[in-house]
Amino acid sequence: MCGIVGMIGNRNAVPVLVEGLKRLEYRGYDSAGVAVMGADGVEIRRSVGRLTQLERVLASSPVSAPLGIGHTRWATHGEASERNSHPHSGGQGRVAMVHNGIIENYAEIKSDLREQGAEFTSDTDTEVLAQLVASKTESGEFADGLREALREARGAYAIGLLARDQPDTLYAARLGSPLIVGRGPEGTYIASDVPAILPQVTDVIYLQDGEVARITREGVDIWDLEGRPVAPDWQQVELEETAVDSAGFETFMLKEIHEQTRVLGGLLDRYVNGLEVTLPDLNLDEETIRNLDRMMIVSCGTAYYAAMYGRLLIENFTTIAVETDLGSEYRYRNPRIDDNTLLATVSQSGETADTLASVKMAKEAGCPILAICNVFGSSLVREADHLIYTHAGPEIGVASTKAFTAQLTAFVFLALHLAEVRGELTFEKKAELLVALQKIPLSIHKVLESKDRIREVAEKHHDGPSSLYLGRRFNYPIALEGALKNKEISYQHAEGYAAGEMKHGPIALINEYLPVICICTDTEDEVAEKMISNVREVQARSGRIIAIASEGDTRLHEITEDILFVPKTRECLSPLVNVVALQLLAYYAAQARGTDIDKPRNLAKSVTVE
Ligand code: F6R
Repeated sequence: MCGIVGMIGNRNAVPVLVEGLKRLEYRGYDSAGVAVMGADGVEIRRSVGRLTQLERVLASSPVSAPLGIGHTRWATHGEASERNSHPHSGGQGRVAMVHNGIIENYAEIKSDLREQGAEFTSDTDTEVLAQLVASKTESGEFADGLREALREARGAYAIGLLARDQPDTLYAARLGSPLIVGRGPEGTYIASDVPAILPQVTDVIYLQDGEVARITREGVDIWDLEGRPVAPDWQQVELEETAVDSAGFETFMLKEIHEQTRVLGGLLDRYVNGLEVTLPDLNLDEETIRNLDRMMIVSCGTAYYAAMYGRLLIENFTTIAVETDLGSEYRYRNPRIDDNTLLATVSQSGETADTLASVKMAKEAGCPILAICNVFGSSLVREADHLIYTHAGPEIGVASTKAFTAQLTAFVFLALHLAEVRGELTFEKKAELLVALQKIPLSIHKVLESKDRIREVAEKHHDGPSSLYLGRRFNYPIALEGALKNKEISYQHAEGYAAGEMKHGPIALINEYLPVICICTDTEDEVAEKMISNVREVQARSGRIIAIASEGDTRLHEITEDILFVPKTRECLSPLVNVVALQLLAYYAAQARGTDIDKPRNLAKSVTVE
């Protein structure tokens, strides 16, 4: 979603702001802008479209100053246009603000301010907040007025703010949307995430909800919304620059697909020692695990498909009853939850609004919270009592790949750990699974090696308006994920379905034009034969079958010529391998269709608004 960068330093901030915004491009945006504290007050430059457009505006109308803020906007209130782009000003240019999040009571505030004579030039909630801050800071201590305005705002925000009367100060605040402060040799910065300012900083502070920061060249003061001082918690940056460049791959997504061997290998090294699974941040004591009889897993998008897989695994290995739900649905249900239910969440970013709202709701009901998350210091991590980090490294491609396989792996560890503590898994079974799991990075590597074949099949079938993905049991969530990847980056409509459900409706779609991707790798499982029967049903209606099958499986040869062979593994682990083939299939379809793979239209990397 929107991205924020700000700087106060000893050199021109504009190139740093633009570079920082470029590094935030992956979050998704449709317009951009910067504001600097010039000699005659705040100067703003904005444009709709990509950052190259903003660079053109800056080239024809240059600004330069050592203090500034920048923003990439993903439209929520009002269309994507220059007048709705950030920064917005309030009090006739007395303040300039960039903002992520949504001010829920903006309409009420706007009408009060209008009565007091304020005039608005945009449709945004941000301009309302900027005007509110301006109205509260007309006199008195600026920081007091700012906090008063923020106390009045309901909703979520991360803001960066310049004030004409304070030409050497950058203000920042957060509630519900991430924001960091960073320092380095040439200045102090604010940003939505660490990668945005990584080359500039050595230390960062992760601002907490309800904190307001005043940043000058002398240092950083932080208060809570009531004005109580908070000691800045500087943390050394550990991320390496190589983690956020594309390393010679044509896109970040392709790089991240290839990184999966390393990410999974790293997770195995970190969490498995011989035949022992150790989850150091889980902190679930054995008695709690033994008494656990209910788990609810809540997440969104790709992470929700990981949750579905997690449910199947945990149910398979333990007697815990597991349910899953989407964050956006769960938070509006009236679920039966109490302190005997473990509420688990899965999230790459740890900032997804619906996931976080569900967590807060469950917390209020007394549920312990378990988070499977990729981002240290994220909002979800701070809410959670029990953690499994997925250590996939920064994921820049908007469509999730390595974070997903890391989430699946985390669920394997969790399921094994729960089952073992509860005495529900024999040593032999656990050993068998761990041995098979150790082979998965190599299997993924083999899938990556077969990418030319996957490209060939993608190029043959990419042109139709739609496609159908079918899978059963452990591979049903993978059918959903394969379809999601395809629609996200190739813009081809794609539907994932439980293969057994096909007869109940989607079979009507099948004709000689419809590609039907069938995941058939499970050859010994109780659903194996049933899957083949489903494939035959597609064949009987002349569907264009693309099968994902285990190496050496000859059953499909007479059905289709488009078979993508992947290494054989245990059925419950096959999703980890199969999904890589589907990621590449979507990738090459998108390439053939000429889309912007790393930044698909309308999508945001982390969905921090409802
Ligand atoms: C799809 C994708 C999204 C995210 C979803 C949840 O490729 O990336 O569907 O999975 O927005 O995001 P996180 O995992 O950050 O909570």
